[in-house]
Order: sequence, then structure tokens, then C-alpha cells
Amino acid sequence: MQDLYSKNKDRILSVKDLPTLPTVLEEVSELVENPDSSTDQIAKAISQDQVLSAKVLKMVNSPIYGFPRRISTIQHALVLLGFNVIKGLIISTSVFEAMTEAMHGLWEHSLGCALASAAIARQAGFKDPEEYSVAGLLHDLGKVVTIVQLPEIKEELDDLVQEKDISYYDAEKEILGFSHDRINAWISDYWNLPLKLREGLVWHHRPKSAQHHPDVACVVHLGNFMTRLFQVGSGGDDNVSYLHGYVFKVLKLKQSHLENIMDELDREFSQLSGFTPNQD
Ligand SMILES: [Fe+2]
Ligand SMILES: [Fe+2]
Repeated sequence: MQDLYSKNKDRILSVKDLPTLPTVLEEVSELVENPDSSTDQIAKAISQDQVLSAKVLKMVNSPIYGFPRRISTIQHALVLLGFNVIKGLIISTSVFEAMTEAMHGLWEHSLGCALASAAIARQAGFKDPEEYSVAGLLHDLGKVVTIVQLPEIKEELDDLVQEKDISYYDAEKEILGFSHDRINAWISDYWNLPLKLREGLVWHHRPKSAQHHPDVACVVHLGNFMTRLFQVGSGGDDNVSYLHGYVFKVLKLKQSHLENIMDELDREFSQLSGFTPNQD
């Protein structure tokens, strides 16, 4: 007999209802892999899909990044942020509807974590804070996949969180046999996500286990904590997540850095309210 873990893994991964990514992404990924492709060609391929491009540009111009001037073309966005970040933004806009339907407050929680991760990465002195923020944006994607694939357990999960006053993470473990971080690993492979992004998604609850990019796992771990501390959106329960002190060592953050991060978030979290990738 199949155990709970394998049975649920199969159901989660049945391709039937997995969120689909825009077809243009396939073409673009091929272009990116070819060293002869130019940024121009890649930008053109993405721009074919006008609705998608508008959504991606709206994300690029959101308070998460705070660029001083408006970025109005995909070409410019690619030069500024790089393809990996743009790919992450394409994914986030593609799952936006599913995410808002799956869990009340999860979109806001994800945006908050993206903003917090960028702020933390900047304080830690990392040169591409946008790469960290896109990992923050997608960190709880596995929660969405569960609800899309197994809608019947949504209520069971919520009830267990309420009844036992446990975290959503622990409720997933109890009911499914694994949590969303495991699902993030499967979906990252399925969508062929860059390793750095994958590590942020997979190890945001257990940053010590990240082997290749502990920096991004630590940033998202702390970003998730901050987002919950400031009560931005909802990750499925009201608890402030456990904070591993280990992250301060890896990120070399001192008290003064932490104060700067808190000040910044205090100012900026409110700017996210009501923001969506869709046109107004
Ligand atoms: Fe999580
Ligand atoms: Fe989270």
C-alpha cells in the first residue's frame, strides 16, 4: 500500500491542474539558454504577450523595488533586473489569481515578504536585492499548489490550525505528510527554476539545510518572520514564525542593520496595500 507521503505527492504533482505558465515563457527560456540570443530578442519575445508584459511591468514598478523612475519597457526591465527575476515575476503574475483564491491574505503576505527580503538583502550588502525579493515573492507557492490540487483539504487544514493552535506548516505536515517547502522543491524542478531561487523557496523554514545558497534561504526566512511580525497579510495562521538566530551569523547583520530594516519596513509596508499585478 502506498504511504501517505507518496500518495499525496502523486496527487500534488498530477499535472492536470498544476498552474500553467504562459506559453511565451517556454520560447523565452529557450532563447535565454542560447548564448547567441540578445536581450533585445528576449524582450521582444516576452513583449508579444501584451497582457503579461503589462503585468510584469506593473510588478517591476511596484513599491517592492522602489525604482526612482518608471520602467516602461520589458527591455529596460531585463537589463535592470536580469532574466531570472523577470521569470519569477512572470510566475508570480501567472499564479496571482490562484493565490488570491487559495488563501485570504497570502498575496499580501507574499508581497510583504518580497519587500522585506529586498530590504534585508540591501542591508546585508548583497548586490542583486531583486533576486532575493523574487524568492520572497514566491516562497509560499507550495501552499497554493496544495489548494489547487487538493481543494478538499483546505477546510481540514484551517480547522486543524484553529483547533490545535498550530502553524499552517505543522498542519500541512500532519495532514499531507509534508509541508509547502517540499512542494516548492518539486515545483521548482518542474518549472526549471534557477538554483538560487529554488534554494530560497525550499529552505525558507530550515535555512541551515541550504547547501548552495544559504544567503537567499536566510534572507527569505528573516523576511517571512518580519512580514508576520508586522502582520502584513496572512500565511494561514496567526503565529509569528520561529526565527533561527543562525541567519544573523550568515547574513552578518548587526543590531544597527536590524534597526534600519525595521525602520524601512515600518515606512514601506503600508505602500503595498491593495497592490495587484492587474491593470486598475
Ligand atoms: Fe513558508
Ligand atoms: Fe510565508
